[in-house]
Amino acid sequence: MKNKLIIAGNWKMNKTPNECRILAKEIISSLNGIMGIHVIFSPPFTGLNEIETSNPFFKAAQNCYFEQSGAFTGEVSIEMIKSCDATHVIIGHSERRMLFNEDNYTINQKILAVKKNGLIPIFCIGESLEDRNNGSTEKKISDQIEKGLIGIDSLEGLVVAYEPVWAIGTGVAASPKEIEDIHKFIHNVLKNIDKKHYTQVLYGGSVKPENSEELIRVPGVDGFLIGGASLNVDSFVSIAKAMEKYRSN
Ligand code: 13P
Repeated sequence: MKNKLIIAGNWKMNKTPNECRILAKEIISSLNGIMGIHVIFSPPFTGLNEIETSNPFFKAAQNCYFEQSGAFTGEVSIEMIKSCDATHVIIGHSERRMLFNEDNYTINQKILAVKKNGLIPIFCIGESLEDRNNGSTEKKISDQIEKGLIGIDSLEGLVVAYEPVWAIGTGVAASPKEIEDIHKFIHNVLKNIDKKHYTQVLYGGSVKPENSEELIRVPGVDGFLIGGASLNVDSFVSIAKAMEKYRSN
């Protein structure tokens, strides 16, 4: 039996505050009473305060800055995120790495700050198509993990999301075998950092109702981080229900 599973919806730069409120409300009412699964909504910052959650529903910011306050125009502090009752922060999403030049050092600073402030980082890692084609997937992943977690001895209160860049938004998810192999590798790298705590590792990249039943069975997959399919009530709810069904069997 796997640990409690996580389904997280990364809404990226979509939905006005009012649309965020409506989407979360509809999903919560459809998933009322769901068992064994934590459901996390990650709206844009402007939507965080619009969503009301209580266990097993939670809120995540999509990013943060690591300084506490001050002259950092355009940035949002962890304190501000906390005051919206968010419990998690997505860190190091590949879109942040590629489009906003976030490197392993910045990501490490953010993870340290999120943990210090008592929130849970959802730490994203994943190789590009180029990495995969030239055989450097494992090197890239271990580098991202080790550099992102410098200075962290205990992995309690950390979630990892493996999102191969080539599977994000393409409609083509990694295969169950590819996911199984890399999740096993990731769990081993994490174990070398902290033997005591089991870290939940989510898969992300073109997860949809059509493949969620198969992908949730893959050993080492503790849930999903979902982009496109999280923007629609029916598809998100159907994935969550497939996970619940798998867990209850
Ligand atoms: P898609 O589910 O749209 O492929 O996006 C995945 C993702 O980037 C979630 O963070």
